[in-house]
Amino acid sequence: MSFQLFREIQADLARVEKELSNYMDTDHPTLTAASGHLLYAGGKRLRPAFVLLAGRFHNYSFERLLPLAVTMEMIHMATLVHDDVIDESETRRGTPTVRARWGNRVSMHAGDHLFARSLLLIAEMNNPIIARVLAETSVEMCEGEIQQMATAFDVEQNFRDYLYRIKRKTALLLSASCQLGAVAVDAPPYMIRALKWYGYHLGMAFQVTDDILDLEADEAKLGKPIGSDLRQGIMTLPVLEAIAQVQDPKLKTLLAKQEKSEREVQEAIRIIKQTDAIARSHRVAQLYLAKAKAELSRLPNIPARDSMAMIADFIGRRSY
Ligand code: IPE
Ligand code: IPE
Ligand code: MG
Ligand code: MG
Repeated sequence: MSFQLFREIQADLARVEKELSNYMDTDHPTLTAASGHLLYAGGKRLRPAFVLLAGRFHNYSFERLLPLAVTMEMIHMATLVHDDVIDESETRRGTPTVRARWGNRVSMHAGDHLFARSLLLIAEMNNPIIARVLAETSVEMCEGEIQQMATAFDVEQNFRDYLYRIKRKTALLLSASCQLGAVAVDAPPYMIRALKWYGYHLGMAFQVTDDILDLEADEAKLGKPIGSDLRQGIMTLPVLEAIAQVQDPKLKTLLAKQEKSEREVQEAIRIIKQTDAIARSHRVAQLYLAKAKAELSRLPNIPARDSMAMIADFIGRRSY
């Protein structure tokens, strides 16, 4: 999938792609096949793109940004391979998941191996800030997943629980991509800070829209199953909004039920869609996107800044 919004950095992103492809090569054919499968399935490459765009704000150096861009996509891919095991998902990026093709055990190893190789790249970059931020982000991502598991099927949780989760699951890695792109080119602290917060707010909006898409996307276009959060008992923003509005206890009973039939999942979606929960969730996403854009206004007016503003707009209305 070529992503129109990245025109500004298209040539260098193609070079990142090539390097990523080299990194899929391991001494073990199954590992190579499994991670290659996920890489070549596509994906938006949002995190490497942010590394390159952030690097534009100061002394752009592709050589310094390349290992970081590769690292960010590899960490992301490691989380996806593991996520599909945890979520028992059959499709990802429009194609069978690694777990569907090779099973859970290979997926665990493939994810670990991707993550371990990203540690090698981090070591080679020899930058203590990059190492620290990515270590902290990895710890927090795990904590987000654990909290998600602990709160599954709990219909009494609040919005704060949700925000805790999506910050860790999604926003921090996107934030780190923007922040560290600037760190890698030795940008001044004010730029690093603005990019970090741009990435954070954009990442929050990104997960809110992901959670909306789980209820109403075109599955073929999204490339992954919908209704998955409901089946897993994950109380996303639209679900929490609906719980707050619907008086009929039926919704909560449905949501709290562990093994839902397909009919029950559809019934829950139908009730949620009768409320304005999705519209309210879109408004929350828009609030985060406005905050992301406000951070951009602190940065020099260069084409990369326009691209970042356009990416924010895309996230507000994305369908994949
Ligand atoms: C999927 O991320 C996981 C979430 C954080 C919601 P993306 O939507 O960026 O996945 P790809 O890389 O484009 O497949
Ligand atoms: C995405 O989790 C975040 C991570 C992979 C860490 P989800 O389970 O919500 O994302 P999708 O919808 O499967 O991509
Ligand atoms: Mg998940
Ligand atoms: Mg998932």
